[in-house]
Amino acid sequence: MKKDLLRPIFWENDSLKLLDQRQIPGKKEWYVAKNSKDAIFAIREMVVRGAPAIAITGLFGAVLELKNFSLKPDYQTFQNILSQILESRPTAVNLRRAFEELSSLFPKETFEKISLSELQQKSEEFAIQVFDEDIRNNLALAKNGVSLFPSSPSKLNIITHCNTGALATAGHGTALGVIRSLKEFGHDLTVFADETRPYLQGARLTAWELMEEGIENYLITDSMAGWLMSSRKIDAVIVGVDRVAANGDSANKIGTYPLAVLAKHHGVPFYIAATEKSFDFKIADGSQIPIEMRTQDEVTRLNFLKNEKGEPILPEGVIAPVGVKALNPSFDVTPASLIKAFITEKGIVLPDKIKDFFG
Ligand code: MRU
Repeated sequence: MKKDLLRPIFWENDSLKLLDQRQIPGKKEWYVAKNSKDAIFAIREMVVRGAPAIAITGLFGAVLELKNFSLKPDYQTFQNILSQILESRPTAVNLRRAFEELSSLFPKETFEKISLSELQQKSEEFAIQVFDEDIRNNLALAKNGVSLFPSSPSKLNIITHCNTGALATAGHGTALGVIRSLKEFGHDLTVFADETRPYLQGARLTAWELMEEGIENYLITDSMAGWLMSSRKIDAVIVGVDRVAANGDSANKIGTYPLAVLAKHHGVPFYIAATEKSFDFKIADGSQIPIEMRTQDEVTRLNFLKNEKGEPILPEGVIAPVGVKALNPSFDVTPASLIKAFITEKGIVLPDKIKDFFG
């Protein structure tokens, strides 16, 4: 029997329930957001993460905030709510695109005319639509991804990075969605998941999703990918993305760029799986993508995960000299020249064709 789709985000009776990804794989706990502040906390502290899931959480955060008003806010207050949520994490473009679409439903003149309940209802409908679309698009892109591989069941070895699964989206996932669909197709799949230092999305989340799904997998440290590509046949690297610039340069989780360089060196196809919502044609190239810098603690400690009270979730585990300076850029940019193709819900597209492709 087919397993139910793993879902990290629930919108039920005006409440936003998020599977707390800081706790996985230890336990499955739900974080309930009641207003935009809670949604901002959830995004910033990575209760929820992954570009599509951030956008959906941000949208419902705005809906929650609007539902807390008993008198209609003025236009500026509405815009301020969106800008505050938008500041929560800078690199992924999905949230900005979602808010631009939401705002376009209420140009200033329309906004002045509608009632509070219309504003609340239309915003909620839009958030639900984005949520539903994300699952549909992920299933469509995964199907397109499957078309890149042999048409009869084969032995496939795939490397992935970070977590791009159901946890990072409304469901199914992008890169991990392609991997899920390859398995459903009947391929004999082995997935090598980079642990993804320093935040360990690969170790904590991807390994967990793959094990839950019954997909054969090995966890590797990020530094092992070169050894792997030089010592056995790897059929593809498939990763997700946070923002694609107009020339195809792609910002994704730190460690993606070296993986792409290794893939090029070893002749392994390097694919990026993403929906159109991750493309940002307003910026010419990757140098204009803001790279989030996160706390040094994530580099110097193993117990950087904290609960709402600020207490460590894991036991003490410092791994570097106290006081050492550390860098922690959370994303890097893979030049378009290293990307074989983008796997999208609308088809497979080459990096130099993305602008024409999406019109
Ligand atoms: O810092 P994170 O965990 O939000 O980073 C996530 C990634 O880099 C993903 O690859 C990207 O958002 C795509 S998720 C479908």
